[in-house]
Amino acid sequence: MKDLSPKPSDLEPIEVASLDEIQALQLKRMKWSLRHAYDNVAMYKTRFDAAGVHPDDLNSLADIAKFPFTYKDDLRDNYPFGLLAVPRSEIIRFHASSGTTGKSTVVGYTKGDIDNWADLGARSLRASGLRKGDMVHNAYGYGLFTGGLGAHYAIERLGATVVPMGGGQTEKQVTLINDFRPDGIMVTPSYMLNILEAFHKAGLDPRESSLSVGIFGAEPWTNAMREEVEAAFDMHAVDIYGLSEIMGPGVANECVETKDGLHIWEDHFYPEIINPETGEVVEDGQPGELVFTTLTKQGLPMIRYRTRDLSRLLPGTARSMRRMEKITGRSDDMIILRGVNVFPTQIEEQVMATGGLAPYYQIELYKSGRMDAMRVLVEATPKAAGAASKAAAERMLSKRIKDMVGVSTEVIVGDPGTVARSLGKAVRVIDNRARG
Ligand code: DLL
Repeated sequence: MKDLSPKPSDLEPIEVASLDEIQALQLKRMKWSLRHAYDNVAMYKTRFDAAGVHPDDLNSLADIAKFPFTYKDDLRDNYPFGLLAVPRSEIIRFHASSGTTGKSTVVGYTKGDIDNWADLGARSLRASGLRKGDMVHNAYGYGLFTGGLGAHYAIERLGATVVPMGGGQTEKQVTLINDFRPDGIMVTPSYMLNILEAFHKAGLDPRESSLSVGIFGAEPWTNAMREEVEAAFDMHAVDIYGLSEIMGPGVANECVETKDGLHIWEDHFYPEIINPETGEVVEDGQPGELVFTTLTKQGLPMIRYRTRDLSRLLPGTARSMRRMEKITGRSDDMIILRGVNVFPTQIEEQVMATGGLAPYYQIELYKSGRMDAMRVLVEATPKAAGAASKAAAERMLSKRIKDMVGVSTEVIVGDPGTVARSLGKAVRVIDNRARG
């Protein structure tokens, strides 16, 4: 793999500033953000007043814990524009996420917000090893989803060349990568596996491709998946995190030289980890739910937004700002089987560790009598598609899940190509429990 480590001159001063300097900037910005939210958004004024707190009560960063949380439902309840802190005419772009249930959540950006987002996106790409003059194939979906346009502006702001491919048309993706010879690709990790398969179908060796780095996010993925993709393409695979409510892609990003979790761009977002049950803030290093307060957002300030993403905060390494550990999963995706909590990423690790299996999987939940049960659908690699190999892989994966995750599951190893392929965010869990 190519050495993509940055030179000191590639970094912005704030990326390597002292913690004192970063915290002083955060405190100044946090005061502004609380005041901005309180003065301009009716919901925040009502909530803060009801909780008996005022923006003037913030004297230290830790004082943020006195302020009430904001939830995804608050965006739905104030649909479409009720949480905007500026007149609609100052919003230059909307994005929205279509949850599986209920109204979509709408987010709005001022010119200044889009500018900051592009800067932080460019910083994320630099952390990933890309530079001005490189070419980047963007296969995140364009449209209301923040992935496509978020990545697009980041690539342009870096001074790189963007190939605005978007999602889908997998064969064409391969043709363009082969013909244009981009240095980097931005795409969901599950769709990258789809592209990998299309390389093989086209008779092309992915290790011979021009790609030196893939920037993967928008869904949970494991280090085992990283190894798989890095080996398949002979390129680096780094993690990019973000969510529409806070900004979009580029809230945090891994550094290619360390790949040890994602540095949170703390000059713009203040992270906390809380116990999701009690709402108490936990110490750095402890697991829990990520909560973010935006420090510079004008259009849609978010105060203590509950992401439902589970992670841990770790000290800075390649940069001064703190890291978040790779997301284990969302609290909404947690499966509870006979009292044991299971995340799809735990199943992914075991699929990747079992010989003879391709890296595609889905989890089906169903009722067995009155109990919830789980079935894992995977597929054999073309070389291991014989009946005996498939049966052996079924036994092996089932045993691994029992031993490592602690639950009994049925495993079905299908023929190559039988598990549904992802075009963006993968659907990992199919819930058939209501069907009995
Ligand atoms: O997925 C933004 C994004 C686009 C991030 C492209 C990275 C790359 P939403 O559609 O609002 O925004 O979904 C946000 O996706 O709360 C996480 O649950 C999940 N997610 C995003 N990035 C990661 C990641 C975009 N790197 C939700 N690892 C978040 C795990 C991620 N989960």
